[in-house]
Amino acid sequence: MKPYRIALLSSFLLLFSSLAPAWEYDPELGEEINEVCAGCHGEFGQGGKQGKYPRIAGQPEQYIAEQLHLFRDRKRPNLDMVEHIDERQMPDDDILQISRYLQGIELKTKLPPVNEHDPGFDAYARLLESKKLMQIPRAEGDVEKGKALYREECASCHGRNGEGKRKKGVPMLAGQYTNYLWRQVDKLRKHIRIHDPDEPDEELLDDFSDEEIRDIFAWLSTADD
Ligand code: HEC
Ligand code: HEC
Repeated sequence: MKPYRIALLSSFLLLFSSLAPAWEYDPELGEEINEVCAGCHGEFGQGGKQGKYPRIAGQPEQYIAEQLHLFRDRKRPNLDMVEHIDERQMPDDDILQISRYLQGIELKTKLPPVNEHDPGFDAYARLLESKKLMQIPRAEGDVEKGKALYREECASCHGRNGEGKRKKGVPMLAGQYTNYLWRQVDKLRKHIRIHDPDEPDEELLDDFSDEEIRDIFAWLSTADD
């Protein structure tokens, strides 16, 4: 090959390697970082203390990563997490790792039926499985009204059944603790959190009464029944 061709080829290779993602997913590292998070959010990211600590398992990795950056940059207040999330403890690569790790945790809402007298029955595996269950207590409100309102006003972004949108990084609302969601409604309405980055000055929830939000959350809380 002529020297200039070699030069051209190697500069292409250099270009591609600089475009290629600089990180590689390492599930073991994800699991290790998660030990810190587990202290509050639970071993499987299922959340805890009736929603003081939100569920984070199964959320879109893009959403998790964005929130971690917001916490780190003090753009979304979170006193609880402050000491776990500074630049030194949580470099960019760790944010990518833990976000993908958490997205990959699937929480079931029901355990499949089993026969405990079956010789293959594994009580320990069953116990572990039961810890990964996510059941949101029924929230009060008019479920039918809430469903209609949700489908009309929220589903385009948060998904038909509140499952969120991975590719767009929109969080799931179904399967999340209702009182956690209420705390976020408050922050969104007060512009402490930005709801729609494309329209930062608009708050999507301003047009809804508490009663309407209550109905929406009532419907979302039935999604796992
Ligand atoms: C000391 C307790 C604590 C620890 C440890 C902790 N968190 Fe949190 N985290 C919280 C609390 C409290 C909130 C809810 C803040 C709020 O109400 O806005 C939260 C919120 C979040 C959210 C936002 C969820 C959403 O739906 O918007 C994400 C993502 C998150 N934490 C990820 C993590 C990760 C990843 C780790 C481990 C590196 C971690 N947290 C460690 C207490 C903790
Ligand atoms: C234009 C798209 C869009 C619409 C419509 C929309 N949302 Fe959102 N919502 C988002 C995005 C994006 C986020 C994440 C914001 C962020 O990055 O902090 C979010 C976050 C939330 C959160 C916080 C979730 C969490 O885990 O912390 C709640 C609660 C919420 N939305 C409720 C609603 C409700 C109720 C409706 C319908 C009345 C609605 N949203 C309509 C895009 C939308």
